[in-house]
Amino acid sequence: MRSIGLSNFESERLEEVCEAATIKPAALQVECHPYYQQNDLKKRLAPYGTVIESWYPIGHGDAGLINEPVFTELAKKYGKTNVQVILRWHIQAGNVIFPKSTDPQHIRENFDIFDFALTAEEMNEIAALDCGKRFYHATLEEQERNFSGWAPAD
Ligand SMILES: NC(=O)c1ccc[n+]([C@@H]2O[C@H](COP(=O)([O-])OP(=O)(O)OC[C@H]3O[C@@H](n4cnc5c(N)ncnc54)[C@H](OP(=O)(O)O)[C@@H]3O)[C@@H](O)[C@H]2O)c1
Repeated sequence: MRSIGLSNFESERLEEVCEAATIKPAALQVECHPYYQQNDLKKRLAPYGTVIESWYPIGHGDAGLINEPVFTELAKKYGKTNVQVILRWHIQAGNVIFPKSTDPQHIRENFDIFDFALTAEEMNEIAALDCGKRFYHATLEEQERNFSGWAPAD
């Protein structure tokens, strides 16, 4: 059994690729966080069983996102940090997450999200934060510079 993943592939050709693939993509890696929840993309992926893998899952550490009052309130209720609430929201929303941290305490915290659960109402409150705001703004030229020389390892 093999798994295939796609990255940053949201074009109208997504369905074409998924229909043609005999092994359907297991995951599609895209920017996804409470300000950019990717609900339309999820609907498009559902027929293929492909899940969203979130990059920038905590908005690249954006303080405005992390300190949204709803996260502060829920963090207090569950005895967790705001970031743990965001990560828990991802898990319950069905997203695969790879939060990045260079801080050992944060890394420990980011794993410690499996002993509490947000209610349906709380998930809805977080759903209401979806506003189409992205944090990644590289131009096409910058993307080409960063990625055009990239090749998979042997
Ligand atoms: N495929 C693509 O095109 C693509 C594009 C962009 C990024 N990515 C990948 O996505 C991953 C995540 O990207 P990212 O690091 O920019 O965004 P991110 O995971 O949303 O945010 C990382 C930031 O959050 C902070 N943080 C992490 N855990 C925390 C915690 N528990 N409490 C408070 N702050 C915390 C980190 O600071 P500390 O280090 O201080 O904890 C860091 O500043 C990376 O592996 C990256 O390579 C992929």
